[in-house]
Amino acid sequence: MNSALTENHRLLALRDQHVPRGIATAHPLVAARAQGAELWDVDGKRYLDFVGGIGVLNVGHNHPRVVEAVRRQVGEISHASFQVVAYENYIQVAARLNALVGGGEHYKAVLFTSGAEAVENAVKIARGYTNRTAVISFRGGFHGRTLLGVTLTGMSQPYKQNFGPFPAEIYHAPYPDAYRGISSEYALAELDTLFATDVAPDRVAAIIIEPVQGDGGFLAAPKAFLQALRARCTEHGIVLILDEIQAGFGRTGSMFGFQHAGIQPDLVTVAKSLAGGMPLSGVVGRAAIMDAPTPGGLGGTYGGNAVACAAALAVLDLFEEQDLLGQAKALAMQLQDGLRALQRRYPRIGDVRGLGFMQAIEMVAGDDSQSPDAGLAQRVIDHARTAGLLVIKCGVHRNVVRFLAPLVTTPAQLDEALGMLDTALAAACVNQ
Ligand SMILES: Cc1ncc(COP(=O)(O)O)c(C=O)c1O
Repeated sequence: MNSALTENHRLLALRDQHVPRGIATAHPLVAARAQGAELWDVDGKRYLDFVGGIGVLNVGHNHPRVVEAVRRQVGEISHASFQVVAYENYIQVAARLNALVGGGEHYKAVLFTSGAEAVENAVKIARGYTNRTAVISFRGGFHGRTLLGVTLTGMSQPYKQNFGPFPAEIYHAPYPDAYRGISSEYALAELDTLFATDVAPDRVAAIIIEPVQGDGGFLAAPKAFLQALRARCTEHGIVLILDEIQAGFGRTGSMFGFQHAGIQPDLVTVAKSLAGGMPLSGVVGRAAIMDAPTPGGLGGTYGGNAVACAAALAVLDLFEEQDLLGQAKALAMQLQDGLRALQRRYPRIGDVRGLGFMQAIEMVAGDDSQSPDAGLAQRVIDHARTAGLLVIKCGVHRNVVRFLAPLVTTPAQLDEALGMLDTALAAACVNQ
């Protein structure tokens, strides 16, 4: 492992030679195989993977049911393009998403490949339905890396760089952040100011919001804020889009994050853990809104790929058959308790927050300071990797360490991970 040229080193050198730096790799290691919450690199080192392909693996790596469904589907038909011929498992995924999101109401769903594509299409659908142009998103929000995605995203670097010009008619409002004193009341007042000063509400097609900001730092929108947004959207005929790409599929202890607030969105974007590692995303929404674009206006060659749909059905079966939401809630309590205990010992953890099993720690400069310390967060992440735990950062200031462990993580694995985090914090905070 410590020999001069490990397999990791060899492959990472090739990676640097052949792959541009713009696609950054958070951890300098090359994965060989994975199972459940564990991942092994090409040199045989084992890690607890609390990144899960960035929140994609709520049912864990290589769940046998997903593997089996994928194998079977590849043997039957792997790609036909739903724009050419229909196939049953696409229709089944759509029907099941409609039931999960819409409750008793008539919802429809269209499938794509990536989260950004789902976001792009949600905006197209909202504009098509309202015949309005403006879209409001939130500071600190993340909605993907396409040009519209980064424009909606409320973080400048590294996402926007010099990639403009950006699409017009996108406005940003503040997102509540209790730790930094942004209350729901203040955020709502700022939204109303935006309506008064920048864009009249009757020109707004959609408001798009994450129920818990993912890349923006694991900030959960207070229930009252989401309820007030719902009311504003209803009052002004604005389509309310909930971006559940990171928070969805049990991560927060409910199937979707918006369900904690008891609201009904008009459109919901889904991706990531929908298909257990296969690329699949979708827009799920009220039928009348979803049917606004005329035939041919939506689609994409690979959207709703048959193999990805087979994987999604296996994932949705697992949610029905196993108490994954119950497991998420139990794991969430264990993780929160563990992180709070660490916060008592390491004052440089300024905040422990999240919703359900979507938890993070915010690293700050000193005992009484809320100054973001991105360097410390990076050291925690690097020492955690050395100890055998994979985690990544988030937050507008990149000083937040986030935990996206599979919902099938065992309590023993979670304890082990907390021990590794303790080791990492001790090493990262020493002499600080
Ligand atoms: C909330 C949210 N929306 C959109 C996206 C973009 O998804 P993708 O990377 O699949 O395009 C992400 C990805 O992290 C996300 O977390």
